[in-house]
Amino acid sequence: MASAGHVCETPGCGKPSKLQCPTCIKLEINNSYFCSQECFKGYWKHHKDLHKTPQLSASRSSQKDSYNPWPGFVFTGKLRPWPVTAKRDVPDHIRRPDYAKDGQPMSEKQARLSTQIRVLNETDISRMRRTCSLAREVLDLAGKAIRVGVTADEIDRVVHEACIERECYPSPLNYFHFPKSCCTSVNEVICHGIPDLRPFEDGDIVNVDVTVYHDGYHGDLNETYFVGNVDDEGKRIVNVAYECLDQAIRAVKPGVRYRDIGGIIQRHAHANGCSVVRTYCGHGIHELFHTAPSVPHYARNKAIGVMRPGHCFTIEPMINLGTWKDDTWPDDWTAVTQDGRRSAQFEQTLLVTEVGCDVLTKRLEDDGKPLFFSQT
Ligand code: MF3
Ligand code: CO
Ligand code: CO
Repeated sequence: MASAGHVCETPGCGKPSKLQCPTCIKLEINNSYFCSQECFKGYWKHHKDLHKTPQLSASRSSQKDSYNPWPGFVFTGKLRPWPVTAKRDVPDHIRRPDYAKDGQPMSEKQARLSTQIRVLNETDISRMRRTCSLAREVLDLAGKAIRVGVTADEIDRVVHEACIERECYPSPLNYFHFPKSCCTSVNEVICHGIPDLRPFEDGDIVNVDVTVYHDGYHGDLNETYFVGNVDDEGKRIVNVAYECLDQAIRAVKPGVRYRDIGGIIQRHAHANGCSVVRTYCGHGIHELFHTAPSVPHYARNKAIGVMRPGHCFTIEPMINLGTWKDDTWPDDWTAVTQDGRRSAQFEQTLLVTEVGCDVLTKRLEDDGKPLFFSQT
């Protein structure tokens, strides 16, 4: 940022900026700038939360401009962690999943050993439809907020507030203690990136993964977006990830084995010089966030189960430019590629029907294609 000059902190403003907030100067917070008094006042309501972010003062005592919470850790690529703002609250009137309080999804753990796949009844299905369409609305709002200079923390705020407005609990929040309301995965991050204060840069690819909990059911989807001008390799990986999911969805119908999905995805990825992540899989989803079936995205896997009408699950292939191998940052969440090359992902929640499947999280606006298509 320093060499390129600073960009105004107001989301979507994008103007070059030199003004610093007086409190930030006092706290030695070095990365917050505004283009004008108007932008500063207009964003104050959210900006003031920065003053409560303890890691910002930590960055001051260690190094002036770069915040490094893990001295000695060898990063696989260019991306670095930035400070994370304080946990956001969910009002009491919104129904919460069991882990919201202590971080432990007890109901999921109880079901964990079972490979039985639940067949949803009509009530379950209509609730899943409603939740998944709300999840789609939330993701599209997040996607439209992405541009150069906007931070992942700002995307998290958009997601968090959009959930609350729709009487939804943001499912990631406190799931096994995950600290934020969605996952934001930039460039070499495969999945489970924690939204932080790094401003998006021209050429980044950013995945936003939204899951919402409403009326007792979860709906889960994600898309990868372009920030400004993305190079040809970046466009290729995002396109291939989209096509992998598309081809896999077309194969879903009663009688198909869950283990056959991976072959379809891997064939398309390999044909385009890309690799498939093996550590993270699609999953059953309904009243539980993650449950049977497990749906690997690679070929010759040993997944258990056959698709039946009433099954609900996600497919969410993570496709890499280089190696398929992953590593995890010391935050115990952020999954990155071992070679630091980029990764892209798309996810939908599906319901198996008598003849095929319904994409419960599908996009209804425009032509139903993801937002990144308008830029390819
Ligand atoms: N939404 C992710 C998925 O597709 C899971 C995120 S779990 C979290 O399965 F804790 F990282 F948020
Ligand atoms: Co999922
Ligand atoms: Co997801």
